[in-house]
Amino acid sequence: MSVYIVMLGPPGAGKGTQAAVLAKKLAIPHISTGDLFRHHMREKSELGRLAQSFIDRGDLVPDEVTIAMVRERLAQPDCRRGAILDGFPRTTAQAEAIEHTLQDVCRGCVRLVPFVTAPAATLVDRLAGRLTCRAKGHVYHRTLNPPRVAGTCDVDGSELYQRDDDSEETVRRRIQVYSEQTTPLIEYYRDKGMLVEIDGDRPIEDVTADLMAAVKAD
Ligand code: AP5
Repeated sequence: MSVYIVMLGPPGAGKGTQAAVLAKKLAIPHISTGDLFRHHMREKSELGRLAQSFIDRGDLVPDEVTIAMVRERLAQPDCRRGAILDGFPRTTAQAEAIEHTLQDVCRGCVRLVPFVTAPAATLVDRLAGRLTCRAKGHVYHRTLNPPRVAGTCDVDGSELYQRDDDSEETVRRRIQVYSEQTTPLIEYYRDKGMLVEIDGDRPIEDVTADLMAAVKAD
């Protein structure tokens, strides 16, 4: 059966870190809308140029652009068995759109929505120290989750860099945007019986264990 999982939570909660582990364990793609936008920005595509101005401010890219990009990604054959959606949906319009897209394009539906939480001070510390790999977006932290060799990705050897939108000012804006536009999805998915709350303020392996237990219980 297809397994479509939506990772919900504030910036820095660990959605991307956990989505990468789950995707490997479940052998399904990890679809991060942030990574897709950053890919387009590196390629300097029209979509990348449009997304850049919103991302630099810490605002959401408009729904119609984001929904079209995700729809195109989900139409690819590797998504037929399922996918981990990381950072999407982020608005009620996106949540409604994904239901239609999964029905039309994948003949599936969202099965589980882990809501990963952590205190605000933890979020800010994590994002201030985050390092991201240039090639594929693998994620590290200077002290909490360091690479084996400083400045180099363990997986593909590419350079690690600090995202521009991880500056203190933009992080504050991203957390505000999350509170205003994404938190309504907590009740949206709770009402549908899909939400599972996961305490993300623990070691990475412990969070993964809870997530895998939630997947198995589903
Ligand atoms: P995006 O890239 O999705 O950013 P985000 O949602 O703000 O999430 P983050 O990537 O910051 O955090 P995360 O929860 O994945 O944490 P991570 O695992 O990296 O989006 C960027 C921008 O793109 C948005 O602002 C918006 O403009 C645009 N965008 C994206 N999707 C969109 C959409 N659907 N609609 C419209 N616009 C959209 O971990 C953070 C750090 O903590 C890392 O250093 C990690 O090593 C460390 N860490 C993780 N877990 C632990 C742990 N348990 N213990 C210790 N350290 C940990």
